[in-house]
Amino acid sequence: MVFTPEPWRVKVVEPIRLLPPEEREKLLVEAGFNVFHMASDAIFIDLLTDSGTSAMSDNQWAGLMLGDESYAGARNFYNFERAVQDIFGFPHVVPVHQGRVAENLLFSTLLEDGMIVPNNSHFDTTRANVESNGGVALDLVIDAGKHPQEQHPFKGNIDLDKVRALFEATPRKKIPLAMITLTNNSGGGQPVSLANIRAYAELCREFEIPFYVDACRFAENAWFIKQREPGQGERSVAEIVYEIFSLADGCTMSAKKDGLANIGGFFASRNPELVERIKQRLVLIEGFPTYGGLAGRDLEAVARGLREVLHEDYLRFRISQVEAFGRRLTELGIPIVQPTGGHAVYIDALGFLPDIPQAHFPAQALAVALYRQGGVRGVEIGSVMNARLDAESGEMVYPELELVRLAVPRRVYTNSHLQYVAEVLEEIGRHRDRLRGLRLTFEAPVLRHFTCRFEEL
Ligand SMILES: Cc1ncc(COP(=O)(O)O)c(C=O)c1O
Repeated sequence: MVFTPEPWRVKVVEPIRLLPPEEREKLLVEAGFNVFHMASDAIFIDLLTDSGTSAMSDNQWAGLMLGDESYAGARNFYNFERAVQDIFGFPHVVPVHQGRVAENLLFSTLLEDGMIVPNNSHFDTTRANVESNGGVALDLVIDAGKHPQEQHPFKGNIDLDKVRALFEATPRKKIPLAMITLTNNSGGGQPVSLANIRAYAELCREFEIPFYVDACRFAENAWFIKQREPGQGERSVAEIVYEIFSLADGCTMSAKKDGLANIGGFFASRNPELVERIKQRLVLIEGFPTYGGLAGRDLEAVARGLREVLHEDYLRFRISQVEAFGRRLTELGIPIVQPTGGHAVYIDALGFLPDIPQAHFPAQALAVALYRQGGVRGVEIGSVMNARLDAESGEMVYPELELVRLAVPRRVYTNSHLQYVAEVLEEIGRHRDRLRGLRLTFEAPVLRHFTCRFEEL
């Protein structure tokens, strides 16, 4: 079968509209050729992110009606707490409104200047929270994880030799915790094997370093373990998840991904003393510990989403949908990062548009072409986001990869929507020699990709 069928039927629909070409053209110019400046109503298929964009189930919507909006001790908090305890096994659970707040709380409590946090790859908010608390965010993903065309079942694995070398060379008190990100978003949504997590956790235990997981896509990662890791195929995803987290001291979580919710997150831990300190900060910046910046109804949606995401017919569809999308693009000769990860397909813009130099932003040119041709929104992860000026030489240093990420929201688009996107890309490919590079007309000093503007060359 080419496509795994969706394990649900549609009960509510949200209309989307492909605007006429001349209107898309006008909007592109008004947006300064930056799709972040566009209203979502102008987008036909929105693959900007998989975060907070999930479609909730009837069970989650029903849960919203049972929201208890009491300031303290809302019943939904206890459902939420029980779901996290059942699934992850951590006794202490602190709700937050999204993942980066859990990171903020953890690092602002534990980090001091010059301390080091190793990870496979820090997500950008994780890195920013480590660095803004004076820490050093160290990425130690295996070498295969850095090569877009290399096939490896677990390209998100951390390099254990590098971890050991770091632990041996660094005083214990300079590493307040070690982390792993499941799946490795910054490395293309690639999974980490259970064997790698186990060995990393053992190293942490040997050196008495607390081990924390960035759990955003924990279920997708566990599904890959079940499919790809020898000896894991007969276990349930729920069992694999429970084992992963039994190896850890705690986790940070954005429920906007594998919580199947539009908002929410949590910090969880086995360490009561740390949790107490974190709760004190929580009251200051988020809210009382039984709601943590969320409405009672949102806590209920997350509690239900966390249990639903473990349904294996859902995960089979989810991962195979992204995989089939990647396979279709490959058949059409469109170069992508291999193998496809859990939540997105990444197009290699340097391979697709070899005639546009990095100084003219080929991945951004492709993101513009996607909107112009078919009303599709993806996101540039290339020179707009990652090029930097070298202070010594005064030269621009361009990143190794020029990518356009097409993130697939959970339970939102059907296979025919993604087939449409593949056809749009095929059409762009046919006249790729006509695509033009871009020149910046405005850029902010930090995180310029969100607000910069361009003109076409
Ligand atoms: C791996 C990872 N960690 C942390 C976060 C931050 O979560 P949030 O956007 O909910 O703050 C994200 C969000 O995309 C992520 O992908």
